[in-house]
Amino acid sequence: METVHTVSWMRQVAAEARKNERVLGFVPTMGALHEGHLSLIRAAQMQCSPLVASIFVNPTQFGPNEDFQKYPRTFDADRTALEQLGVDYLFVPPAEEMYPPGFRTSVNVEGLSERLEGRSRPGHFRGVTTVVLKLLEIVQPRLAFFGRKDAQQARIIRQMTSDLNLDSEIVVCPIVREADGLALSSRNRYLNEGDRRAATALYRSLQAVRDEIAKGERDAARLLAALQRVIESELSLALDYAEIVDADTFEPVVSLRKVCYVLIAARVGGTRLIDNALVEQSGKNFIVAL
Ligand code: PAJ
Repeated sequence: METVHTVSWMRQVAAEARKNERVLGFVPTMGALHEGHLSLIRAAQMQCSPLVASIFVNPTQFGPNEDFQKYPRTFDADRTALEQLGVDYLFVPPAEEMYPPGFRTSVNVEGLSERLEGRSRPGHFRGVTTVVLKLLEIVQPRLAFFGRKDAQQARIIRQMTSDLNLDSEIVVCPIVREADGLALSSRNRYLNEGDRRAATALYRSLQAVRDEIAKGERDAARLLAALQRVIESELSLALDYAEIVDADTFEPVVSLRKVCYVLIAARVGGTRLIDNALVEQSGKNFIVAL
């Protein structure tokens, strides 16, 4: 695996790697890698060669009171894991490479970026889309891999690639969870033992929605009431939002549609966690993917 630190060198090796009809795959991350990230690498590995991964803790997607400074940085372990999985190039630009002095441009996907995560974290998605656009521009992959864990992020990035006629196809991979259901996240390492136990309520609340759907419930308000009962039973958890939204518009639905998401964000201790379930209609039934 070759580690690449500069934009110009990354551009050059990626251009070379794209030659001869090869399917260049790309997995952008902020490091502190866990099985969720590695599942993206494995998925990319099956469909692509060569494979580029990036680690960049992107300052512009963190709010002023968020955890940019303390965001976990585990570069040596990340590097080893990526090398073992057969990643060909690891792009790790320093912040000055991505945002040199005088940098002034950003890209924003209107509407989709202002709701849900965007409302709780103003400016977050502008930071995400700006850095992802830069990364896609530098690497120009045929396929770029993202996790459904961040469903709104994946939707926004897909919109951006379509609106801006980018050549990269966005592939969205399933959520990887701990044995007790907690979605893997780099931020899970902030949780103490009590918080860690309480955090499973996010998953359990989505399970409660799944159970209600299995019983035939289709009404969004009643489904969310079932979710809320689980969240309220966990006193150390503070709900930020819980919504059932259309998978395309991310606007709330009154009753289940063909494809929707149940999205939840909550705080436990000082840590903000998100999770979701994908609900898809199949004939008269709805299939819930957690
Ligand atoms: P990061 O949080 O490091 O996540 C990198 C990728 O891993 C994202 O596509 C995310 O959805 C995916 N991922 C995280 N946890 C997952 C899980 N439990 N199961 C499946 N996939 C999971 O998301 C970002 O970084 C940044 O916003 C980035 C896109 C790199 C732009 O800076």
